[in-house]
Amino acid sequence: MTQEELFKKIIAHTKEYGFIFPSSEIYDGLAAVYDYGQLGSLLKNNIREYWWKSMVQLHENIIGIDSAIFMHPTIWKASGHVDAFNDPLIDNKDSKKRYRADVLIEEHLAKIEDKINKEVEKATKRFGEIFNREMFISTNPRVVEYRNKFNAVKTRFSKALNNNDLNDLKNIIEEEGIVCPVSGTHNWTDVRQFNLMFSTQMGSITEDSGTIYLRPETAQGIFVNFLNVYKTGRMKIPFGIAQTGKAFRNEIVARQFIFRMREFEQMEMQYFVKPGEEMKWFNYWKEFRKKWHLSLGIPEAKFRFHDHEKIAHYANAATDIEFEFPFGFKELEGIHSRTDFDLSQHQKFSGKKLQYFDNETNESYVPYVIETSIGLDRMFLAVLSFAYNEEKLEDGSERIVLRIPPVLAPIKIAVLPLVKRDNMPEKAYEIMNVLKFDFMCQYDEKDTIGRRYRRQDAIGTPYCITIDQQTFEDNTVTIRERDTMKQVRVLISKISEIVNEKLNLKNILNLNK
Ligand code: GAP
Repeated sequence: MTQEELFKKIIAHTKEYGFIFPSSEIYDGLAAVYDYGQLGSLLKNNIREYWWKSMVQLHENIIGIDSAIFMHPTIWKASGHVDAFNDPLIDNKDSKKRYRADVLIEEHLAKIEDKINKEVEKATKRFGEIFNREMFISTNPRVVEYRNKFNAVKTRFSKALNNNDLNDLKNIIEEEGIVCPVSGTHNWTDVRQFNLMFSTQMGSITEDSGTIYLRPETAQGIFVNFLNVYKTGRMKIPFGIAQTGKAFRNEIVARQFIFRMREFEQMEMQYFVKPGEEMKWFNYWKEFRKKWHLSLGIPEAKFRFHDHEKIAHYANAATDIEFEFPFGFKELEGIHSRTDFDLSQHQKFSGKKLQYFDNETNESYVPYVIETSIGLDRMFLAVLSFAYNEEKLEDGSERIVLRIPPVLAPIKIAVLPLVKRDNMPEKAYEIMNVLKFDFMCQYDEKDTIGRRYRRQDAIGTPYCITIDQQTFEDNTVTIRERDTMKQVRVLISKISEIVNEKLNLKNILNLNK
């Protein structure tokens, strides 16, 4: 199965089992907007809670807030979003389709890379064991030609982006013969900047002064509450403010399912530190956030850091934690050292002093900030991409299993009477009515037990307990573990303990060890 096929299967699976639906589907959907269904909303809540507990509950010096989506419009002027939160756009005059100029060039570069990989693949097959990859890449004339071209375009592209040189972006597209995927022509408009913020009107005012924006990130809600939290929470530096919530971006290239959406959710934390100590904390958070991902049991090889070459003007260090999605390694989380940019800007635009008073030195200063920012929907997709498995079993049958980390699984325990008679359903409900206070449970009595196990595998339920005749004799049930499919008989009174063992945050979230 190719990665593209795998991705299509994951998308189909999430719809079939009630994880994710296209928004407004009965009206043919709304591009790049999705709804979370009965299981998806549970999984999303569990990811959010796992993040929140690790950041807020387990850090004495990090508190959480929930700021409004609508904010004073000047905030977005101060933050730079009104002037600089742009994508470079280009239209094809024949197809009337709009593209991101940078994405067209990146895709072109990826095609050149593909050609190099194909040559290497062919040679690997041709030469077998004696194949020397390094030597081949540095000497094969065709590969050398592709590589030179790749490097030349990449360097020119980075320079054009850094200098905001829209003309040169267009020149690259034309000179490289990049065509519109729909019309197949090079009939392009000029490249121009397009602001990604959605705007709307507040109250009855229709002039410009009434224009407000849907927040494109949750971070600014934290910065503008810095003083409130610092004072009322009696916080001492270093301290952090976390929040989760919706953000909105009018993405032009909104593809790849829930990877790039127009309405999405972020989980962000701003950590306020003493100027000069930011690199120490940047490295701390880089490490901590990596450990958080690994605590879920996802293999380390699925992640990599990508340090930014082009650092935003307000930052002095930035890295992405990338995850290997079915469409390649892509940004999952950003960790940024934002200096004192945001607080200083809000100080300037609001006229309010946004400073911290250091009791030890008797000095006031604008704190520096380390930010960790992860998209909840992207994390959802990362979990699913890792979890989705098609397995051939020893008896020749097949199963689809979602190996969702148990702590995140939407349903923790399926409660199944072996048959729909002999008081087994009643007994099953009796057991579930106790367990449901601690765990999300699902009762199922339809079809054979084998088919019911498969259904639970397909939604990632880590435990199935089955009530049978013996249950009435000795108060035991069988408990089946999703990944190994092993079943053991246990006392009903032991179920909670067994399941809790896998869910206990003390075991999985002890990240500072
Ligand atoms: N406050 C910093 C900030 O917003 P960002 O890199 O633009 O930084 C942070 O976004 C994270 O939000 C990304 O790493 C990604 O996980 C998520 N994200 C950004 N745009 C998104 C979109 N259109 N759809 C889904 N998730 C998105």
